[in-house]
Order: sequence, then structure tokens, then C-alpha cells
Amino acid sequence: MKQRYPLHTFVNRILLRRLILVAVAISLLIGGTTWVQMRNHARDRAVLVALDRLAVIRAQFWVLRDKGVARDKAVADVVNAIGEMDFDHSGGKFIYGAFYDGVGDFFVFRDTNFDQNKTAELLVGLDRSLRPELGRDISSLIKVDGLAAVKVVVPIAGVDRKLAAWFSGIYLLSPESADQMVNEPLTAVGLVILVVLAISALYYPVVLRMARKLAGFSADLLEANLEMMEALGCAIAKRDGDTDAHNYRVTIYSVRLAEKVGLSVKSMQGLIKGAFLHDIGKIGIRDEVLLKPGKLTEDEYEIMKTHVNHGLDIVGQARWLKDALAIVGSHHEKFGGDGYPSQMPGDMIPKAARIFAIADVFDALSSERPYKEAMPLERVVEILEEGRGQHFDPDLLTLFLEIAPDLRARLAEFDDSDLREEMHRINERYFASGLETVLA
Ligand SMILES: [Fe+2]
Repeated sequence: MKQRYPLHTFVNRILLRRLILVAVAISLLIGGTTWVQMRNHARDRAVLVALDRLAVIRAQFWVLRDKGVARDKAVADVVNAIGEMDFDHSGGKFIYGAFYDGVGDFFVFRDTNFDQNKTAELLVGLDRSLRPELGRDISSLIKVDGLAAVKVVVPIAGVDRKLAAWFSGIYLLSPESADQMVNEPLTAVGLVILVVLAISALYYPVVLRMARKLAGFSADLLEANLEMMEALGCAIAKRDGDTDAHNYRVTIYSVRLAEKVGLSVKSMQGLIKGAFLHDIGKIGIRDEVLLKPGKLTEDEYEIMKTHVNHGLDIVGQARWLKDALAIVGSHHEKFGGDGYPSQMPGDMIPKAARIFAIADVFDALSSERPYKEAMPLERVVEILEEGRGQHFDPDLLTLFLEIAPDLRARLAEFDDSDLREEMHRINERYFASGLETVLA
């Protein structure tokens, strides 16, 4: 049998889409994590430098305090001497700072060489309520007038080495340091994305090859199942002394009505299998009943009705055919509730079976048989209308009658081979999509 499904295109499309999605997801995940970590690392580094500067200031402060210099004067002396200290300012500089205790600020300094010291003062002013315990410095990366800076709040011990005051200040990062903080994480994220994409590209041919094989196996299995379905339909047609054209036509009618109704692809698969195999249970009806030329007696009719349960038994054996059970088991139910075998009414009958019931009767009446002529369309419609709401779902019947005349005229020109081709086109449309589950 020729290859019906454009597998390579399908696999390429699905696989490429999913690989790109996964690569982007991994890039975002790892890149995002890396970005956060690098930023945190850069911030910690900046904070450490700021705290290091402060430690030097604090040490100088204690030297003065140990010499008996008063607290406020010691702080003022140290801060005023900062300019003379041999600091490396390549990383940044404190541009504003305030020393405060439980009463208020006792010393404030600002570096007027930086315009940002005014904004820094405002930002620090908001922090008087922050009073961390000894050893618990608070620091965060902030923007001051658009420039990167570190804000610190540091506890300061008194003469008795107990908590006595706090320092809150803004350490403005140098342009080089700020650039580094942005560029390093960006470079790292870029590298991560490149590596993920490169690995995906390397894996693509390997995964593609495997996926193609897998999809190929799945397609073969699907072909085998569809062929088996056709073989079963053919078997019952032979047993019934009929051609299997009815199975093809009734399936095509059902599918066209189902398309008008908007049935899902999944439901459509069950409808196709069920419509094609609806009378499979007739295999279990003995010849004198199944092949009796005349009218069946009441007992014989009861036997004939058991073909529904036989059908359920047969179709129920195959997992692939489970979704055909709705039609096989309910194709003789009637909308009014007086069908068989369950006498279920209206909406309780599966929609696929209600669709099929209309298609089945329409085709039976429209077709020529050895013992009867094909009935004219007008008469067929009349009979269907008589069954509206009693045998047939009225809404579905209305939809069907909109498409039935054209469809009947088209199918009338089809021979067995045309019917098979049409059925294959339908299968290709509704079963090919099932292949997506291979890569799902
Ligand atoms: Fe039947």
C-alpha cells in the first residue's frame, strides 16, 4: 500500500517546533537563574567593597575612641580624614552617610563632588527605622538618579562594645563597576543560550532519526488497523451477500454530517470505525435468518436483533476499536426511545449513533439492491421526515437534509474503487493527526 501520510514533513515540523520550544524554555530557565545569580554575586561584591571601606573607617574610629576622643568628634575626625586615606575608588565611593543613634543623627557627611548626594540623602532619610542588631548589616543594590549604588545600614558598637548607633549610607558604584555588573550577567546568559541552542542543534538529527522511525512504526500500525477494519467490513458484506459499498457510503454520509455538526477529530475517528463496522455482529447470525429472502418471523427478528450484542462482543475485543462501540451498540436506537437493544431516548443515544442512524436509513433507501430499485430522493426525504423526532434526531436531520441531495448525486457516480479512494482520503484526514500523539 502506498505511503498515505507525509511523515517526514510531519515529523520535521513537530520535532523542530518542540525542540525550539524546549531549547527556549531551558534557556529561559538556566539563563534566568544565571542572570539572578550573577546579579546577586555582583551586588554582593559591591556590598563587600562598601562594607570594607566602612570597616576601615570604623577601625579608625575605634583608634580615636580608645584614645578617649568623644564619639561625635571621633566620627567627625575619621570621616573628615577619609579624603586622606589611601582608598582605591575604582569600585565606587560613599557619597552620603549618616551616623544616628536612638536620639537622632549625630554626624552626617556628603561628598558634594557628586550631584547624586541630594537624592542619596533622601534615600538614607527613609531608613531611620532600620536598626539592625550587631553583626547584621543590611545592604541592597539601588539606583540613585539612574546610577547603580549600594545602600548599607550598619550597626556600630559603643565603648562597652554594645550596640550604640548605626551608619546608613549610599555607596555609588563607579561607571566601570556598574557596567561590569550589567555586562557580566548578560554575557553569561548569552553564553548559556548559545550552549543550549548548540546542544539542541547537535541532538536534532539524532532525535529526528529516532522520531521518524517511531512515527514510521506508528503509521504502519495505523495502516494495519485501517486495513483490518476494511477487511472486517468486507467480511460481513460477503456474509450478508451484499457488496461492501454500503459500508463505504454510509461512512461517507456520516462523516459529512459529522463535519457539518462540528464533531471533534477524536469523535470522528470513533464515528468512522463505528459506521464502517456497524453491522459486524451479523457474522454471528445464522444463515437461515440472515439470508432469508422473505419477511422474518417475530422469533427470527428477535434473533436478528442480537447482531447488536454480537457486534459489541466482536468490536470490544480490540482496543483500537473501542470508540466504535457507540455506533455498533446504538445504531438501532430511535430518538423516540422505541429502538433496540436499550430503548434509550433522545440525547441519551450517543451523537455518533444518532448521526449514523440517519445516514444508514438514507443510504438503504437510496440504494439499488437485488430485490429493489433505488428510491427517488423526494420519497427518501419524505420517509426520513416521517421519522423526525421519532426515529431521528430532528436537529441532525435538518442538517443532513441540507447536504444529502448533492452528496447522494455525487456518490451515485462512484464505483467501488472511487468509494474506497474517498474513504482513504477521509482516513488520511482524520487518522493522520493521531500521529501527533507519537511525539506528544
Ligand atoms: Fe444493524
